[in-house]
Amino acid sequence: MGLWRIGGRGDECRSLLAGDRGDLGQWKRIACKQAPTRRAFASLVDILKRDALSLHPMARGTHDSVADDRNDSILIYINGEMVPRDEAKISVFDSGYLVGDGVWEGLRLHHGVFVFLEDHLDRLFEGARMIFLDIGETREELKQALYEAVEANGMTDGAHARLMVTRGNKKTPSQDPRLTITPPNIVIIPEYKTANPETKKTGVRLFTSAIRRGSPDCLDPRLNCHSKLHEVIALTQAFHAGADEALMLDIHGFVSTCNATNFFIVRKGEVWTSTGNYCMNGITRAKVIEVCEKNEIPVRQKNFSLLDAYSADEAFVTGTFGGLTPVSEIDHRTFPGESLPGAMTSQLSGFYDLEIRNYIACNRK
Ligand SMILES: Cc1ncc(COP(=O)(O)O)c(C=O)c1O
Repeated sequence: MGLWRIGGRGDECRSLLAGDRGDLGQWKRIACKQAPTRRAFASLVDILKRDALSLHPMARGTHDSVADDRNDSILIYINGEMVPRDEAKISVFDSGYLVGDGVWEGLRLHHGVFVFLEDHLDRLFEGARMIFLDIGETREELKQALYEAVEANGMTDGAHARLMVTRGNKKTPSQDPRLTITPPNIVIIPEYKTANPETKKTGVRLFTSAIRRGSPDCLDPRLNCHSKLHEVIALTQAFHAGADEALMLDIHGFVSTCNATNFFIVRKGEVWTSTGNYCMNGITRAKVIEVCEKNEIPVRQKNFSLLDAYSADEAFVTGTFGGLTPVSEIDHRTFPGESLPGAMTSQLSGFYDLEIRNYIACNRK
């Protein structure tokens, strides 16, 4: 955590807690430019201070990672070129930037292998087909691009890659795919990224957001599209309520999922998750269901409500980045176990790790 100054413009703005939020430097410049009077400047600083405090030092969640300086000098894949991080830029006419028109995947690299790569590519191509986007690359070419990106960075382990495909650059700002004048933009951001081990011990606190997961005839909630505004709004509600992440209900009021992970509860030795109709069908979610079945642990994909969630024995969330992460409380209701993770969460984490090890063993180059 460090102190930062805002342009040396007085005591009231001398220091704010910034942690490693590099973007605060940019806010500082904006504050200097946009506050015409000393008073306006001071109130802007107050807002920044509040945001810095509310967003950073206490932020905790499944996507918290261990700080790694090596990420300062990573190379990013942009349409076949490896570009230093600071120079990695996409046009302001990019369809993803303009209207959220694109699909993406987050993948983990363990021991030189992108884990469950086929499943990720299946989901990416299904999403692209849904939005009528011709990626213009085969699965093999995308695989090659992913490995090129990590190899160019000398990464073999403890890395995470975000693969993004947007429809390409537009002639003019518009929704209309027919106004796209370039092939799709394909970007891969590989980073050294390990989940914060503390989060596995403390768990995450969930808050039930007022934002519901919609039905498939609106924006299919299973589609991993570029716009995550729906989830972002849910998350902001959660952290303004003092929690780490948002729990989301479906349109019928049943518990569906979280803003960036899938949600499970454990009740009397059974593992429950939602039907899957109103949530991203996470790859980790599918693996957890699979390991339960393999190990004869009763697992149900079913409708259940907050009544069941609040009185569960354990709860956990799943995602590629963090694997299984225990939930410590939901809307201020804690769980009966003495420590986290609970026994079932811990057992399933072990089975999930074994799936990863088996995958690596079968797919090592
Ligand atoms: C909304 C949402 N739910 C769940 C997940 C977890 O999916 P996976 O297990 O495939 O990482 C993600 C991951 O991107 C997500 O965005």
